[in-house]
Amino acid sequence: MKEKKHSIDYIEYERMEELSKKDQDILTIAISAAEGAYAPYSDFHVGAAIRLSNNTIIKGSNQENAAYPSGLCAERVAIFAASANYPNQEVETIAVYAKDSKRSNHVISPCGSCRQVISEYEHKQNKPIRILLMNSEKVVWEFKDIESLLPFSFKLKALN
Ligand code: THU
Repeated sequence: MKEKKHSIDYIEYERMEELSKKDQDILTIAISAAEGAYAPYSDFHVGAAIRLSNNTIIKGSNQENAAYPSGLCAERVAIFAASANYPNQEVETIAVYAKDSKRSNHVISPCGSCRQVISEYEHKQNKPIRILLMNSEKVVWEFKDIESLLPFSFKLKALN
């Protein structure tokens, strides 16, 4: 028997102004994307912005449904739109923002399904997807890849 340990590194920025201009731009777009959220059931408004390798920006926001499981998170709305419209471009960075007016002020943390989906594209492009997570106080957490947020992920390799 051998006890093993896995740890992850991430960076916390107290204010979004500490990031590069390029990153501030997609964070600002993620804030505006949250305005497109359709969240009458949770009233939790999430915005996502993706920068592709050709510098195209794709926005997404959560879209809810009276049949609850039919709704989709902002991250998946954005990354599916990116892949559908630009299948040959790589995803460089995804920025996610939660307006979270009534609740706690924690930095938004993508759900397991979104992590799995982002992981699929990271493996497809064989290049890290940077993740920026921001709360309404503009505190930002930066992860260098999705592997940090979803270690030991289930991959296509496992099916071969
Ligand atoms: N939501 C997102 O869009 N992204 C996340 O990372 C977490 C949760 C959405 C799904 C649902 O519309 C609402 O927030 C409450 O869970």
